[in-house]
Amino acid sequence: MSEKQVTLSKKTYLPDPHYRKEAWCKDAEHAYQGYLTDPDGFWARISHELEWFEPWQKVKEWKHPFARWFINGKCNISYNCLDRHSAGSRRNKVALFWQGDDGTTRSYTYWQLLREVERFANGLKSLGVAKGDCVCIYMPNVPEQVIAMLACARIGAVHSVVFAGFGSDALHARITGAGAKVVITADASIRRGKTIPLKPILEEALIDATTVNYIVVLRTQNPKVSLLPEFEMDFYELMDSVGKKCPPENMDSEDPLFILYTSGTTGQPKGIIHTTGGYMVGTYYTCKYVLDIKDSDVYWCTADPGWITGHSYIVYGPLLMGATIFITEGTPDYPDPGVWWSYIEQFGISIMYTAPTAIRMFMRYGNEYPDKYNLESLRLLGSVGEPLNPEAFEWFYHTIGKGKLPVVDTWWQTETGMHMITTMIGEPMKPGFAGKPIPGVLVDIVDKAGNPVPPGISGQLIIKEPWPSMMRMVNQNEERYRTYWSGPDNSFGASDLAVRDEDGYIMILGRSDDLIIVSGHNIGTAEVESALVSHKAVAEAAVVGIPDEMKGNRILAFVLLREGQIETPKLKQDLIYHVRITLGPIAIPSEIRVVDSLPKTRSGKIMRRVLRAVELGEDPGDLSTIEE
Ligand code: WTA
Repeated sequence: MSEKQVTLSKKTYLPDPHYRKEAWCKDAEHAYQGYLTDPDGFWARISHELEWFEPWQKVKEWKHPFARWFINGKCNISYNCLDRHSAGSRRNKVALFWQGDDGTTRSYTYWQLLREVERFANGLKSLGVAKGDCVCIYMPNVPEQVIAMLACARIGAVHSVVFAGFGSDALHARITGAGAKVVITADASIRRGKTIPLKPILEEALIDATTVNYIVVLRTQNPKVSLLPEFEMDFYELMDSVGKKCPPENMDSEDPLFILYTSGTTGQPKGIIHTTGGYMVGTYYTCKYVLDIKDSDVYWCTADPGWITGHSYIVYGPLLMGATIFITEGTPDYPDPGVWWSYIEQFGISIMYTAPTAIRMFMRYGNEYPDKYNLESLRLLGSVGEPLNPEAFEWFYHTIGKGKLPVVDTWWQTETGMHMITTMIGEPMKPGFAGKPIPGVLVDIVDKAGNPVPPGISGQLIIKEPWPSMMRMVNQNEERYRTYWSGPDNSFGASDLAVRDEDGYIMILGRSDDLIIVSGHNIGTAEVESALVSHKAVAEAAVVGIPDEMKGNRILAFVLLREGQIETPKLKQDLIYHVRITLGPIAIPSEIRVVDSLPKTRSGKIMRRVLRAVELGEDPGDLSTIEE
């Protein structure tokens, strides 16, 4: 049931007016009205701040559920991220600072980053990669990952970045699903001082992955891992053997830029496809007006490029703005929980964009760690990925923001490509609420019949009009794509529950489908269930999300064993290990419970909501369809 009365707090914080005076967006209300009066003109103006090789002829074409944006415009996003700045006053500005797990640091100016990207792009071409081909990137959070993404974009190859925490089955599904011709990886990633081999996971994932012609390996370990001649290339040797200049490919606005897999409600992940022109305008726009990036900033988004947040707000958006970005391979509490705050002091980071799960972890460690460092360089804080609960907001605002800084809680999705709901700098902030739709975005909250719900009543969050950086397709699954746009009045269903207050502020209550957000990562119940069932001891499995103070949610798995299998602690451990290897550590259940039966509908569907309700001691709701 989605419609419920929700008691809403009225607590409000007002940032100092000078933030608004100095922000790119000085009057969100006015900007929003401007959008409503002339939506196409609004986006046209923003698009003109970027360079087009050939101007577009029309802002958009909307034939539900398919949109095209900036029709017939020709551009290249890597050109806009790099060449545009290198040719001008940002040539010697630092584009990227990197901090390794072992304390090593590296930096690239815009000019240097462009040079690396051009050479690596030529390297990919020398492997036969051409415009439209798919390249899979399975790498740790190192500068070479950013270089690989931009190199693909430069030559029009479609990248599919897979988070390095995924296991071999998950990687296999993503490589074959996208038909990748080349996979770029590293010998290992370093976490907490430990070397975690990546290449062996890829090797296993490549079994029966017939589209892959080459793999490229970034080798950082000594002695160097050996490479199979003809099939495995060294990252830097590949760059050394080719020309240094690589002109950007002339891309049509609607040429695909990347595929990014996200968990679905079936066992198969969905390959979300984004295109070039609209995505470029949407990420640029929000980096400028929501994250307020300025030339003097050092900007840190703590995500990994393996997620949409990394695509839009580590790589593309900030570089389009000509920002100095900071990235790190390190973990937030290694060697101690003060390490992130030390980066802020050391690099003079001014914008920090992070996730509620990290904030809650730091809360637990207490104020002594941030208090050890000078955080005065900070001027803006951001959050994304799951609801920023009021307690976490308060801690972030007071302990890190010293009760002064604006906090933007940004709601959006892999599918939206860019921020959709937040507060703009200088607007009042309400703990627990993401905020209002940003200028350029129209949303509503509706009941089951599709009618808008009044303030204080929860419902489904929908998006009413197309926007430039919306996904264009689900890879090889048009039907799945169409379902997104089947909300009331042909709107886009976000699959989130939300509620609005009298001022129009929106609080996101969580997913309304079978996705569980664990530490900010989307995990499909069906994916975990099929991983469990693929173990020989398991006959059936049902997975539910249970609220967790730190992670937002944790995964609880119920399993029915096959005949002759006996429940032992060792078996449970094996099952957990099995999920870890096949799907990856992010999908591990926190608990496995062996049961004799699972609640099912008469048609045989497992009723997860009943399991969850029983677990939480809540009312399981309507049981009329249950089998027994
Ligand atoms: C959730 C991440 C509350 C939401 C960018 C959404 C949020 C899903 C917020 C998308 C937020 C994201 N407040 N919930 N500020 N941001 N979510 O595709 O449930 O990894 O549908 O994109 O994360 O997750 P995704």
